Amino acid sequence: MTKVMRSVVTGVGGYLPDEVVTNNDLAQIVDTSDEWIVERTGIRQRHRAGPDQPVSDLAVEAARRALAAAGRTPEDVDLIIVGTTTPDLTFPAVATIVQRKLGCPVGVAFDVQAVCSGFVYALSTADGFVARGRSKCALVIGAETMTRLMDWTDRGTCVLFGDGAGALVLEPGEGDGSTADRGLLGFALRADGTKQDLLYVDGGVSSNGQIGHLRMQGNQVFRHAVVNISEAVMAAAGDAGIEVADVDWFIPHQANQRILDGVARRLGIDESKVISTVAEHANTSAASIPLALAKGVEDGRIKPGDVLLMEAMGGGLTWGACVVRL
Ligand code: ACO
Repeated sequence: MTKVMRSVVTGVGGYLPDEVVTNNDLAQIVDTSDEWIVERTGIRQRHRAGPDQPVSDLAVEAARRALAAAGRTPEDVDLIIVGTTTPDLTFPAVATIVQRKLGCPVGVAFDVQAVCSGFVYALSTADGFVARGRSKCALVIGAETMTRLMDWTDRGTCVLFGDGAGALVLEPGEGDGSTADRGLLGFALRADGTKQDLLYVDGGVSSNGQIGHLRMQGNQVFRHAVVNISEAVMAAAGDAGIEVADVDWFIPHQANQRILDGVARRLGIDESKVISTVAEHANTSAASIPLALAKGVEDGRIKPGDVLLMEAMGGGLTWGACVVRL
């Protein structure tokens, strides 16, 4: 049988900053309530990075934990891809800052900007290096400080987001090309730039020179999310050669419990197979999938050999899904 190279996940790690902001804390600054937020989103709290804690610090902590889980050290890392939309600086990339802070040798390091879909995009991009033998040990990180982009007078957005980072280590592993192989089995990525107005930040380096604030037409985003994500999930499952029914764990981007439930229902996935962290983490954009994966691995639910289905949608609009056997 023909041998194929797969990108195998050998370690995962997550990191959340210490400060917890509850819904009641937010009700002190905008006209909202714990009851409204829980009912409409499922969110109960979010973590917020300290003022002197740039996103690279969150990424480094998650990366350290993923490397320890993989039994690797920073010296082994030859590729770092960070999915983020909230970099420390306009440049250099967060990935190169992480490389310096971890003490990794000269290698390849860059960021991927696909907002909430950043992790799915970063993982699929890393596969192009690892499965082609161009990286022996890659760090794929989703890291965000979304609270820095909030307009704290806009109750329609500021209650939804939080900060955090998640990382995984990818290494090449030989398979026989079947769905029994460990590693990334398939993916589907999508973008539709005509939907920019639904979700964007109203500032940037080459427009007004400001950082800007996140702006969203929440109900419109919601409407697109369930349909778009379901299509990408089916395409990724087809690419992997599996049925959605074969999936052990569904690890969606954690935007809103109602979106998670809507997608799972549409795909016929039982809620017992869904990893949900939205109540404790809120929406951490590109960090949410690896954070949820890390939680499921740490609490013993997700085990080696399990088939994972991950999906996300975010600003752009961008969306996508991937299938991994752990
Ligand atoms: N507290 C109290 N009332 C609020 C709040 C709040 N935090 N936010 C909005 N409202 C009010 C609105 O002002 C509006 O009042 P009005 O009728 O007097 O004008 C009312 O609630 C209904 O507003 P809608 O926006 O229609 O409420 P909806 O049920 O759609 O819920 C929400 C809003 C939670 C944002 C929802 O649309 C949503 O979750 N959308 C998905 C967006 C999302 O998750 N984006 C994340 C990024 S993209 C991604 O990750 C998929």
